[in-house]
Amino acid sequence: MQIDANTMKTGLLGHPVGHSKSPEMLNAAYRREGLPFVYLAFDVAPGDLESAVTGLRVLGFKGWNVTIPHKVAIMDHLDDIEESARAIGAVNTVISEGGRLIGTNTDGAGYLRSLVSETGMDPVGQRVVLLGAGGAARAVGYALARAGVERITVANRTESRAEALASHLGRWTKTSGIGLSRVEDAIREASLLIQTTSVGMHPDSSACPVDPGCLHGELLVSDLVYHPRETRLLKEAHRRGARVHGGMGMLVHQGALAFQRWTGQTPPVATMWDALEESLK
Ligand code: ATR
Repeated sequence: MQIDANTMKTGLLGHPVGHSKSPEMLNAAYRREGLPFVYLAFDVAPGDLESAVTGLRVLGFKGWNVTIPHKVAIMDHLDDIEESARAIGAVNTVISEGGRLIGTNTDGAGYLRSLVSETGMDPVGQRVVLLGAGGAARAVGYALARAGVERITVANRTESRAEALASHLGRWTKTSGIGLSRVEDAIREASLLIQTTSVGMHPDSSACPVDPGCLHGELLVSDLVYHPRETRLLKEAHRRGARVHGGMGMLVHQGALAFQRWTGQTPPVATMWDALEESLK
């Protein structure tokens, strides 16, 4: 597709953005569908966020993704915040509709789509252990709580953050917050373990956030880390008969949901997946 005066503009605001795979994924999707869209990455320092949003608004951008460190601060510069973003406390996608800037969050829904489409798991009735209590855990916890899981135990290195997230998610499901010292007992009772911290991420890929001895065959273990694709946690889980789910799908599906909002079209998920794999080589 030729870029011309009518090309629809989308992109990413972050700091830094050099590592982002979103330009490859989204531009591949636009090309595949023959859509007159382009996606660019913009490195915006925190003090420049307001000017950047004004700039994108004036330049007629159809929408953009938001990443670290702007996911919370951007909320002050938008006209509407959708329920998902309000509940997660962060915006990862902005849509411009009739001159109004709408903030939403596709991370949680993207995670859920990835989990269900890749593993076939029905979230209803699952006993979940969520490792970590940061932004990723908030998004995933919200999506699972809304999807009808039986309970969520949030386990975090800093116990007070686990308690705070558990109390927040308690609006939608049964929850508790614990420190990492008690996580092994919780995992023995669980059907779904989700790892949302950076532990095990390249280059420290030999690290495992829990004692592998507590992993068991009734578990589905899901790790948000996607580099390496198979983390030590997933290897240990697989060895003990557990089902495993890697982090690439969440990245693909959160982008696919943004694509859908901007273009109004069904996203070419397989094309986005291939583009992500290619960019990680
Ligand atoms: P993200 O948005 O990716 O979730 P974040 O909000 O900075 O990032 O949260 C990082 C999470 O990983 C936190 O739960 C953090 O634990 P603390 O709340 O105790 O800081 C967790 N984390 C990071 N490094 C960790 C490590 N080495 N061991 C255990 N947990 C770790």
